[in-house]
Amino acid sequence: MAMKIFEERRSIRRYGDRPVEDDKLQAVLEAARLAPSWANMQCWTYIVVRDPAVKEAVAATLKNNPIQKAVLAAPVLIVACADSDKSGNVNGQPYYMLDIGISMQQLMLEAWDLGLGTCWVGWIKEDDVRSILGVPEDIRVVALTPLGYPAVYPDFPGRKTLEEIVRYERWGQG
Ligand SMILES: Cc1cc2nc3c(=O)[nH]c(=O)nc-3n(C[C@H](O)[C@H](O)[C@H](O)COP(=O)(O)O)c2cc1C
Repeated sequence: MAMKIFEERRSIRRYGDRPVEDDKLQAVLEAARLAPSWANMQCWTYIVVRDPAVKEAVAATLKNNPIQKAVLAAPVLIVACADSDKSGNVNGQPYYMLDIGISMQQLMLEAWDLGLGTCWVGWIKEDDVRSILGVPEDIRVVALTPLGYPAVYPDFPGRKTLEEIVRYERWGQG
């Protein structure tokens, strides 16, 4: 079941007009809520944007990003914010990024299971999005995703093979 979703989920950059049902929106947010996190501190806050004027303002900050038009077209935009003080920081590795990554991925896989499309958007102008959405200065705006029914399903863009990405026992072994 999960493997099928891993294989078939794609980043969706073309959306139809069909609105997202409330129960489906709640389900994807619930999937995000249930994610594991550093010391279970759940550093995340999600902002759900449906107001076309606000979506338009956010989309305007995504110049040159291939997702720009999709942010306007999709009926819902979900913005993932993190309180970095509510997560770990070890050897210079800020774990709030991982917390958000895992939670967002759960949201996205649940969305796919419900027939909905998403697309990670990490290339954002954080301060511009922060000011549009009134996010406090001490909260990071990490990522966002459109949410809606896919209009176009892209082809599989490919992945490295297991042989390329897995080493057994030690880095230097075959
Ligand atoms: C951390 C992260 C940031 C990303 N940022 C963007 C982005 O700013 N704009 C965009 O169009 N896609 C973005 N993507 C989507 C990737 O381009 C996409 O996942 C990758 O090409 C593989 O395609 P697939 O998701 O359809 O398998 C991002 C993905 C990740 C994981």
